[in-house]
Amino acid sequence: MRFSIVGGTRLSGTVKISGAKNSVLKLMAMSLMANDRCVIRNVPRILDVQTMKGVIEALGARVEWHDDVMEITPPEHLGTEAPEELVRGMRASIQIMGPLLAKVGEVHIAQPGGCSIGHRPVDFHLRGFRAMGAEVEERYGYMRARADKLKGATVFLDFPSVGATENLMAAAALAEGTTVICNAAREPEIVDQQNFLNLMGAKVRGAGTGQIVVEGVKELAGVDYTVIPDRIEAGTMMVAAAITGGHVTLQDVEPDHLGFLVAKLREMGVSVEISRNQIDCYADRPIRGATVRSMPYPGFATDLQPSIAALASVAEGCSVLIETIYSNRFHYLEEMRKMGAKVIIEHSTAVIRGVDRLTGTNVCAPDLRGGAALVLCALAADGHTVVDNIELIDRGYEQFEQKLSGLGARIIRTE
Ligand code: EPZ
Repeated sequence: MRFSIVGGTRLSGTVKISGAKNSVLKLMAMSLMANDRCVIRNVPRILDVQTMKGVIEALGARVEWHDDVMEITPPEHLGTEAPEELVRGMRASIQIMGPLLAKVGEVHIAQPGGCSIGHRPVDFHLRGFRAMGAEVEERYGYMRARADKLKGATVFLDFPSVGATENLMAAAALAEGTTVICNAAREPEIVDQQNFLNLMGAKVRGAGTGQIVVEGVKELAGVDYTVIPDRIEAGTMMVAAAITGGHVTLQDVEPDHLGFLVAKLREMGVSVEISRNQIDCYADRPIRGATVRSMPYPGFATDLQPSIAALASVAEGCSVLIETIYSNRFHYLEEMRKMGAKVIIEHSTAVIRGVDRLTGTNVCAPDLRGGAALVLCALAADGHTVVDNIELIDRGYEQFEQKLSGLGARIIRTE
C-alpha cells in the first residue's frame, strides 16, 4: 500500500492525538498478570496493537476491542509460548516475558523483530531475569526462561533501556521481595506503567527517575485505566504544521512530555503555544537549521529524529543530527535525497543543508518513523509524491492520512 500526496498545502485546523503506542503495548502485556478483567482506554487503532492483541490471545487472554476501549480477561491457565510469526514482526512482543515469568514461571519466545533501525539485542532484559533467579536459555533464535518463583534483586542496566526497565518492573511486581532497577529509563511511558501496576495493587515507586524500587506482592487485580497521549504522534503533527507553514492545534496532548521538542522547534523559529492539554503550533517566519542529539528521556526522542530531519531539509542553513540510541537509523535520509534533500551521513551523524523546495517523487518507507518523515517531506514538496510500504507507518500512527487530510493535506491511500 502507498500514500499518494500532493504537496504545497498549508495545514490548518485541529487534530486529536491518540493514545501512546509505546505504552499501550506494555499495558496489554501487563494485563496478563491480573486476576481479573482489565479495561484499557484511549487505545489507538494501529497495527502494532493488533499484533499484540494476537500475541496475548494466543496465550489464552480474551480480548474485546471496541473503538478505543480494550477489555482483556486473562485465562485461568496462561499459555507460555508466544506465536513466532507475530513475535518476529514486533519487538514489543518481548514485553510478555516479564509478566509470564512472574505469573506462571515460564516463557518460550522467539527473538523479536521490529523496525530495521540497527542491532537491537535483548541482553539487558535477560540479564535482569537471571539476576532475579530465572534460568534463561538462548538457542537458534529462541529464548526459554523458567523460574519457580522470581526473587527480588538489584539490577544495573548498562543503558537506560525502555523495554528492559518495563519488563523488569513487571516481573518484579509479582516477585518475592524487593527489586531495585538502577539506571532505569525515565520515559513518560515508564511512569504510565508504574501507575497501571500500582492501580493493579503493585508497589512500584521511582518511575521517572533513574532508580525504580518494586516490592513484590502476591497478586494483582484487574483495573480500568486510560493510556497517556502519544508524544511521538504529537511531535510528528507539530512538524507537519511547521513544515507546511501552517497552523495546527493539537488536542488531548500532554505538553509536559514534549518539552525538548518544543524547545527545539522554537529554536528553529517555529511558534508553539501551550495550554493545559493543547498545543498550538504554527510557522509564520523562516525556519532555521539546528543541532539535534537524540538521547534517552528527557533528552530529544530518537523517534522524533526523522521528523526533525524532514523540517531541517527545508530549513535555512545547516542542521546536524547526532543519533546516540540506534546504530542505523538514517535509511530514510536516502529516500529524502531522492526528493532533493542535501544530506551527508557519517556514521551516526547526519548533516543536512536546507534547500528552498523539495520535489515530489517515488519513495519507500524504510521503517515506521522514517516513513512518517517522508510523508512530512511530501506535504511540503512541489508536486506529487508516492510513499510506498506504508504498512510500516500503519504500525504506529492511527488514521494518519485521515488526520492529515482533516487539516487540509492532499493525501490518499492506494493499493
Ligand atoms: C522503545 O524501544 C520504543 N519501542 C522505541 O520506539 C524507541 O525508539 C526506544 O524505546 C527508545 O526510546 C517501544 O516502546 C515498543 P531500548 P526499546 O530498550 O524498548 C539497546 C518506535 O518507533 N539495548 O530503550 O526496544 C538497544 O539496542 C520505536 O515507536 C541493548 O543493547 O528501546 C538500543 O540501542 C522504535 N540491549 C538502546 O539500548 C537490551 O537488552 C535503547 O533501546 C535492550 C536495549
